[in-house]
Amino acid sequence: MPNTVESNNNNVCNGPLNGKRIILGVTGGIAAYKAAYLASALVQRGADVHVVMTQHAMQLVAPATFWSLTKNPVITGLFELPTKSEIEHVSLPESADLLLIAPATANIIGKMANGLADDMLSTMALVVRCPVIIAPAMNVNMYTNPIVVANVDRLRQHEYIILEPEIGRLACGNEGIGRLLDPDKIIQRVEEVLIGGRRDYARLNVLVTAGPTQEPIDPVRFITNRSSGKMGYAIAEMAAKRGACVTLVSGPTDLPAPEGVEVINVTTVHEMHDAVITRIKDVNVMVSAAAPADFTPAQVRDQKVKKSEKWTLELDRADDILEEVGQMKGRMVLVGFAAETEKIEEYAKIKLEKKNLDLIVANDVSPGSDVFGSDTNQVTLFSRTGEKIEWPRMSKREVANAILDYVKNHFMEALS
Ligand code: CTP
Repeated sequence: MPNTVESNNNNVCNGPLNGKRIILGVTGGIAAYKAAYLASALVQRGADVHVVMTQHAMQLVAPATFWSLTKNPVITGLFELPTKSEIEHVSLPESADLLLIAPATANIIGKMANGLADDMLSTMALVVRCPVIIAPAMNVNMYTNPIVVANVDRLRQHEYIILEPEIGRLACGNEGIGRLLDPDKIIQRVEEVLIGGRRDYARLNVLVTAGPTQEPIDPVRFITNRSSGKMGYAIAEMAAKRGACVTLVSGPTDLPAPEGVEVINVTTVHEMHDAVITRIKDVNVMVSAAAPADFTPAQVRDQKVKKSEKWTLELDRADDILEEVGQMKGRMVLVGFAAETEKIEEYAKIKLEKKNLDLIVANDVSPGSDVFGSDTNQVTLFSRTGEKIEWPRMSKREVANAILDYVKNHFMEALS
């Protein structure tokens, strides 16, 4: 049971996080002092903040600091007998809207990735059903250690939100990745998760294509590919959350329609082409995440072809939807994807140029890359301005938000 530092005061605040109950987990990194700023900023925004500290964190910051900032008991231990006012805190993980762990050490990340619970914070992390945001901070060699990388990946795959640390001078004197993300950016992500945050795509029309197409060859058979549609659906979902008016032209998938998105279901590349071209006029941003067929059968047989027959298929080149939009794009921002099995940079750049794109998102789809159907993706961006950015493996929703951020930050003029 928790040991706490007591207070009887309740927060009385108004702000964007009013009514939101946040558990702030503080672990023993040098950046623990920055958690005091986070606690204060969250309280100022109206949140009811409950701090849980590990034993190591208490060596670096006194619990009383958090108590005075949050006016709530600070939970510091697992095994001490509870005092009266702690009873409510037993139910804390169940009533929380968010668990934010900042800074998160390699130790807590390792415990969470492996389902261990040997203190109050790791126990709560297993109990909560709310979103969990983890802001790692540690030495560069620790953060890039393959075991830590695998633990972080594992948490991402389970939909934990990882706030990638910044590159810079670290407390240990080394330079590299490992600095706690700027606390104001952490607060921004908290707001996005809890209240939908940014509305930076308000008044913009976004058209997204997603999924495979199916090209019939007879009444019972078709040609298709392994696209699941998850990447395109994530982009449509995030753009709608950020205020855009979103149309999603989707090939056949098993995915539910994202909230607030108009979904146009199509089957063939020809139908996808027509659905896009008829809706392209007022579009501000098009993201072509679909994998439309490159070839269609020259002839579709009326009757089921019997296997006693010898059958040679002839295929015609299909419309390249993105290339056609590229020729008429005007001020629209055009984002394509490049699914490659080799020479990723070379082929992606050729497509960027040939299809008149502003941005191309390249991913490796070679056997073993585990992209199709996965909830995560590792992509590299190539911009028409010559910039190349390689992102770490992230959830497809995080990739979607990062693409939308890039478009907004780099092609803002075209959008205003
Ligand atoms: N695309 C499209 N219409 C097609 C084929 C592709 O709009 N008939 C779009 C995809 O949505 C993607 C981009 O073009 O944004 C690149 O798709 P990709 O399959 O990587 O390349 P292709 O252009 O089809 O070339 P190749 O298959 O030769 O690599």
